[in-house]
Amino acid sequence: MKRRIVDGRPGWSAPRSGLRLQRYFHDGAWAEQMRLPTENAVPLGDIDAKDAGHWCALGSLLVPYGGFLAANLQAGEIALVNGATGSFGSAAVAVALAMDARCVVATGRNEQALNELSRRFGARVRTVPMRGHEADDRARILQASAGPIDCVLDILPPAASAIQVRTAILARVVLMGGVGMLGGDGLDLPYPWMMRNCITPHGQWMYPPQAATLMAGMIRASLIDLGHFEITAFGLERTNDAVAHAAANAGPFKMTVIAPQRG
Ligand SMILES: NC(=O)c1ccc[n+]([C@@H]2O[C@H](COP(=O)([O-])OP(=O)(O)OC[C@H]3O[C@@H](n4cnc5c(N)ncnc54)[C@H](OP(=O)(O)O)[C@@H]3O)[C@@H](O)[C@H]2O)c1
Repeated sequence: MKRRIVDGRPGWSAPRSGLRLQRYFHDGAWAEQMRLPTENAVPLGDIDAKDAGHWCALGSLLVPYGGFLAANLQAGEIALVNGATGSFGSAAVAVALAMDARCVVATGRNEQALNELSRRFGARVRTVPMRGHEADDRARILQASAGPIDCVLDILPPAASAIQVRTAILARVVLMGGVGMLGGDGLDLPYPWMMRNCITPHGQWMYPPQAATLMAGMIRASLIDLGHFEITAFGLERTNDAVAHAAANAGPFKMTVIAPQRG
């Protein structure tokens, strides 16, 4: 059976500025049908109905893709993903490889998750365990890289510190994480360091509409393998079970999806 899919998000978060919009588009995607702003609905063509769960991985892939598009990652460049062991960070590694990065330096504290990235993607991924000492961690990043780093994607969560971000600011950098949302110090980037290393910081929230079309093309061209994602699907009537499962089974390349019957 074929299904036609769209990428569309009714709103992931509602800070004060988005509250009015969310009051109207408040139903979300756990439903047979969803209401969303037309300009946010991007047609992606037909898919096989049995692959619908895997296509939900678009949600993880498009966020870092938006970052790399904003940072203008070029084929042949060296990318660094800071926070590569997380859900979005691991997807970022897959995206940078699909965009033909020469290699991807992947940082994280969880060595098991780093080893899993190496196993999954091979020698183009260079993993660096973060030990919490800024200068030492930075030195090991530079040592692990195949050459000068061109483009950094930071996707650390609010619990991480500004120092963890600053450690990896080694080139033009796109900041996508949540650092600072719970308070804490600012980045405090040294002026001479930025000047001498030609550092360009760029903040990025989500991704432009055409990213969904391009990402679907990369998936259809097998540049991104949705098979990396382990999907556990629940019917709409088991939504609470799905939430409990998602909470207990978070992590790289793991997705819990709700698969409503077509309305
Ligand atoms: N800009 C956007 O459009 C956008 C969209 C969606 C999400 N985000 C941001 O992306 C962030 C990451 O989301 P995610 O779902 O990938 O999170 P996640 O799965 O929890 O991954 C975050 C990773 O950060 C690492 N980390 C480093 N220091 C940490 C600390 N002190 N406490 C906890 N984890 C720490 C952890 O790996 P190690 O333990 O290996 O270090 C963890 O795997 C979110 O918090 C959100 O702010 C941004």
